[in-house]
Amino acid sequence: MVVQAQQLYVQAVPPEDQFGDVTLDGHVTPNNGPVVFNHWLHRAKFTCRVCHVDIGFAMGANRTGIDAKTNQEGYYCGACHDGKRQFGNVTAFASCQPDGVAKANFTCSRCHASSKTERKYTYKEFTAKLPKARYGIDWMAAENTGFIKPIDVIDGISIPKERIKNRAELSIHPQVQWFTGIHFSHELHSKWNSCELCHPEIFPTQKDAPANISMYQIANGRFCGACHVKVAFPVNGCNQCHAQGPMWVAGPGWVM
Ligand code: HEC
Ligand code: HEC
Ligand code: HEC
Ligand code: HEC
Ligand code: HEC
Ligand code: HEC
Repeated sequence: MVVQAQQLYVQAVPPEDQFGDVTLDGHVTPNNGPVVFNHWLHRAKFTCRVCHVDIGFAMGANRTGIDAKTNQEGYYCGACHDGKRQFGNVTAFASCQPDGVAKANFTCSRCHASSKTERKYTYKEFTAKLPKARYGIDWMAAENTGFIKPIDVIDGISIPKERIKNRAELSIHPQVQWFTGIHFSHELHSKWNSCELCHPEIFPTQKDAPANISMYQIANGRFCGACHVKVAFPVNGCNQCHAQGPMWVAGPGWVM
């Protein structure tokens, strides 16, 4: 398909149990292998906002600069994984420990890759009861039916402040006449992400200078693609945004 004289190339999606996984491997040592961070587990428990606004994780693999020291000081993973913080009836296990601390009491391999795995959660078991869509978990349905109740405020981390209201519905129209309307709820997106995640970085708000969005850029990870390529339902599900458009594009190397 030729769009604005550019070829629209949609990446293949990985197997659903790996969708949204981020490999953190900027500081690997012989004893402590890379860490795979799973969105499927964490987003079932917390909103995007908590992590990407309040805690300040960048929206790109290995861009935050997380290391053993930041975690020990209570930033990034250590903001929650300090061995003390309670979420419901779960105490978040501790992350990296300084030299000299008896490591026997800590399960480093719940995060770090090692010969023995000590992970409590598997995708298959954790998501067994969650509603599924054509590809992976239907996160909207999971929330609407009360299967998940993502936490949006964490004591001592979230900055208590009045949220900006303006959550009106907002329609986005394709710049080309021949294409049908786009489904986008400003209201729902604000609930999960808060304004700061999208404005001004992903979408500048000046009314007189609307972002020049195109499907080509979205498929390459910009605008809607900043979330919908790697973590929210992938851009391959065309009809989730274009109700009357094509159904689903598998992308190379992926069998429907
Ligand atoms: C909650 C998850 C988590 C747990 C549990 C955890 N770590 Fe880490 N650790 C990380 C992350 C994330 C990084 C950064 C990974 C990277 O960029 O390569 C890291 C990095 C490290 C590094 C790399 C060197 C450096 O200065 O950053 C060492 C060493 C380390 N951790 C030691 C440990 C030890 C020892 C334990 C067990 C006592 C442990 N970690 C438990 C998440 C964890
Ligand atoms: C528990 C914390 C947490 C939650 C909740 C969370 N994220 Fe993330 N996210 C992370 C971390 C950590 C990274 C990796 C940052 C790094 O490597 O520097 C990340 C990375 C990303 C990336 C880049 C992925 C890549 O491979 O480049 C996207 C996109 C993203 N998150 C979107 C979201 C969206 C959308 C939500 C809500 C549905 C969400 N995140 C919820 C912690 C979280
Ligand atoms: C907003 C709080 C929060 C942040 C930030 C957070 N986590 Fe978690 N994480 C949790 C909670 C709560 C659990 C569930 C713990 C349990 O049930 O024992 C969890 C579970 C996990 C598990 C599953 C372990 C298992 O045994 O299956 C891993 C791995 C993990 N986190 C890694 C990370 C890494 C790496 C980071 C930083 C990049 C991170 N987390 C940041 C709250 C958080
Ligand atoms: C996450 C939502 C989303 C998904 C999924 C999505 N699109 Fe789009 N699409 C948009 C938006 C937003 C625009 C409007 C761009 C603009 O302002 O013209 C658009 C515009 C378009 C256009 C108009 C030309 C252009 O480049 O703007 C075409 C054609 C198109 N999309 C095709 C597709 C196809 C094919 C798929 C599936 C592979 C798909 N879209 C999936 C959001 C999406
Ligand atoms: C998921 C991303 C996302 C989130 C979250 C989000 N917005 Fe937007 N916003 C958009 C998009 C997309 C547009 C349209 C941009 C364009 O056409 O250039 C927009 C447009 C706007 C505009 C200009 C258009 C108008 O109707 O006046 C304002 C003002 C605005 N947003 C405010 C907010 C506020 C306030 C919040 C939080 C309550 C918020 N936005 C949350 C994506 C988002
Ligand atoms: C900051 C991250 C982010 C950005 C940017 C973003 N989305 Fe989403 N979107 C999400 C998340 C999270 C969901 C929840 C469903 C999921 O994760 O699969 C979602 C859900 C949706 C849904 C289903 C909601 C419903 O009403 O049925 C549509 C449609 C959608 N997005 C379209 C868009 C379009 C179009 C854009 C760009 C104008 C966009 N999104 C930009 C994160 C984002």
